[in-house]
Amino acid sequence: MGQRSFQEMVEEQKRGMPPVVKGDLIGKTVMVTGANSGIGYEAAKHFAAMNPTRLIIVCRSIEKAQDSINKIEAETGYKNAEPMALELSSFRSISELQVNALGPALHAILLLPLISKTANRHSVVPRIVVVSSEMIFFANIESDAIDATNTLETLSSQEYCTQEIMKDRYTLSKILNIMLVHKLAALLPNTTVPVALNPGYCLSDLRRKASGEEAKRYKQMEDEFAYTSEEGSRQIVFAAIGGKDEELRGAFTSYSKVCEISDWMLSEEGKKAEDKTWTEMLELFRKLDDRVPQIIDEYLKI
Ligand SMILES: NC(=O)c1ccc[n+]([C@@H]2O[C@H](COP(=O)([O-])OP(=O)(O)OC[C@H]3O[C@@H](n4cnc5c(N)ncnc54)[C@H](OP(=O)(O)O)[C@@H]3O)[C@@H](O)[C@H]2O)c1
Repeated sequence: MGQRSFQEMVEEQKRGMPPVVKGDLIGKTVMVTGANSGIGYEAAKHFAAMNPTRLIIVCRSIEKAQDSINKIEAETGYKNAEPMALELSSFRSISELQVNALGPALHAILLLPLISKTANRHSVVPRIVVVSSEMIFFANIESDAIDATNTLETLSSQEYCTQEIMKDRYTLSKILNIMLVHKLAALLPNTTVPVALNPGYCLSDLRRKASGEEAKRYKQMEDEFAYTSEEGSRQIVFAAIGGKDEELRGAFTSYSKVCEISDWMLSEEGKKAEDKTWTEMLELFRKLDDRVPQIIDEYLKI
């Protein structure tokens, strides 16, 4: 189903989260970003329990990563986790769109040489897992922004960052997450599997800055049907090690199944937005990071 109502989302949420997929990760490397909090931390714990040869805990600072590693070790007994620092908002100007959508995209692109080397050298099929959201069914990128000379710049302009418009900005960033996965799947060889996922509505620190009516609404939803972060993290584990490579490649997963994306994303306008924002994003990254032009030429056959 390419569309979903809020009520359908709630009913699905109340049916419960499928159990975590388990596997043997000996010989494998897992890198988890945002691994100090919420569903990232819980996913890291699930991976630790499967004994990967390397588990890289990526947080905003080495200190945060080391704290998380200490907790993971205490709770699972796993001792091989390594800390790494990454600040996803270190662009020149910062908005939620950039942290959620552009940061992870640049991170994924910078990892492509390593991912490709790993796939070729060890005959494995690495996965790139991007946490999107079911909220993608509830907003679109505005037609005016798509038709503007530069969509990403337009979305970052003052005119498009009013309080009212910013209410949908989180959702837009989650749409861009899926578009990233589509493009990577289209351009990378099938020895790499990019996947986007919906973790469900979960208790975590995500909504900690909300206030007033918005905070009240979130609290009500949390009381009524939220999953724990551990339950939500099962969907990260599923996208990383569950299902079949050929089915998950370029897919959006939800409740441990491949799920159709929104009608708008599948429409001509949605596809236009996907092509346009991808081209603009690569242009931006080319200017931001010296390594990007070569990676694009070598790994992303445009
Ligand atoms: N919870 C939900 O209901 C839900 C639903 C759908 C999708 N998601 C998605 O799930 C992902 C994880 O969210 P969560 O619910 O687990 O929230 P969370 O508890 O707030 O965790 C977010 C993580 O991202 C890190 N992070 C935030 N900004 C960053 C930046 N600029 N650079 C590097 N790391 C940064 C945070 O680090 P700090 O602790 O240092 O801030 C934290 O580790 C997000 O992409 C979210 O959109 C969540």
